[in-house]
Amino acid sequence: MEISLAGQVAIVTGGGRGLGRTYALDLARHGAKVVVNDNGADLNGRGEDHGPADSVVAEIKAAGGEAVASYDSVASYEGGYNIVKTAIDTWGRLDAVVCNAGMLRDAALHNMGEDDWDTVLGIHLKGCYTLVRHAWPVFRQASYGRVVFATSASGLWGNFGQSNYASAKAGMIGLMNVTKLEGAKYNILVNLVGPVAATRMTMALMPEDRQKMMRPELVAPAVTYLCSPQNTESGIIIEAGGGGFNRASLVKSKGVNFDPNTDVDAGWFGDHWAEITDITGAPDMWNMADTRAKHAADVAGGAQAATKNTI
Ligand SMILES: NC(=O)c1ccc[n+]([C@@H]2O[C@H](COP(=O)([O-])OP(=O)(O)OC[C@H]3O[C@@H](n4cnc5c(N)ncnc54)[C@H](O)[C@@H]3O)[C@@H](O)[C@H]2O)c1
Repeated sequence: MEISLAGQVAIVTGGGRGLGRTYALDLARHGAKVVVNDNGADLNGRGEDHGPADSVVAEIKAAGGEAVASYDSVASYEGGYNIVKTAIDTWGRLDAVVCNAGMLRDAALHNMGEDDWDTVLGIHLKGCYTLVRHAWPVFRQASYGRVVFATSASGLWGNFGQSNYASAKAGMIGLMNVTKLEGAKYNILVNLVGPVAATRMTMALMPEDRQKMMRPELVAPAVTYLCSPQNTESGIIIEAGGGGFNRASLVKSKGVNFDPNTDVDAGWFGDHWAEITDITGAPDMWNMADTRAKHAADVAGGAQAATKNTI
């Protein structure tokens, strides 16, 4: 399958280092003009440095591509506006946004300070809102848009000491689930990528032989594909890294139904716990085929997005 973003414009937040750098380079390699946004903060989200964004812009240009740097923080509403404005002012259009900027303030819950909570939620989760909020009118007017949020296994499955980070990353599922519906009739597709890669964020946690297996370049194909016009799916969570890709999903068990005209009590609930929580054979709320059919119908007829599950 040929993937091409020729003539299109993409924003990558946190594009100056690690995974964001490889996303920006790969999108440019596939024809996109790229806004490389990065405020150059340290791993804890402090300080500023124009160097990372500038050097990725230079790399893209040296390879024959087009790129422009942006140094705004994604954590402010104005910052999100300025990043989107950079794309419009420079090239007059915007087709894809990768919300990837991130940092860490790990602590077990009993040590989790309010500032560490607010800062992490502000950069990771609000940092997605500020971008899509300002990209949305542009996408709606063009009846086209592609969005990727950078989630994490920490939010999908849990990781000790990251209640702030995991909450932000899991919050992106809710943001995706709503924006996939609101964007459907405008051909705006929203997906999540949960990467694993050796970057400054994870390097210290990985032995050297594992770092070699976890190249950020192994994640980029998923992001480029989801940002491309060739992608027709929305509302999908892809995990990527270390030589593998898979889909992650929330499922709904068949559960136990009872006559609502009768009363049940907590003891009854306890007695039925095993059946209620048994997810054997549980389907996704939106399966791939339904998503494809729905988008085809939406694009063709501007139909309202279906919100009921498929069980
Ligand atoms: N590396 C992994 O294994 C891994 C796993 C799961 C999720 N992620 C997520 O992937 C994304 C990229 O992580 P990475 O490993 O490449 O980390 P990284 O530290 O190498 O890169 C993150 C970049 O974001 C920038 N940034 C931080 N705050 C910003 C702000 N307010 N505005 C603009 N830019 C800002 C930093 O300057 C940095 O260049 C993050 O959202 C991270 O949570 C990474």
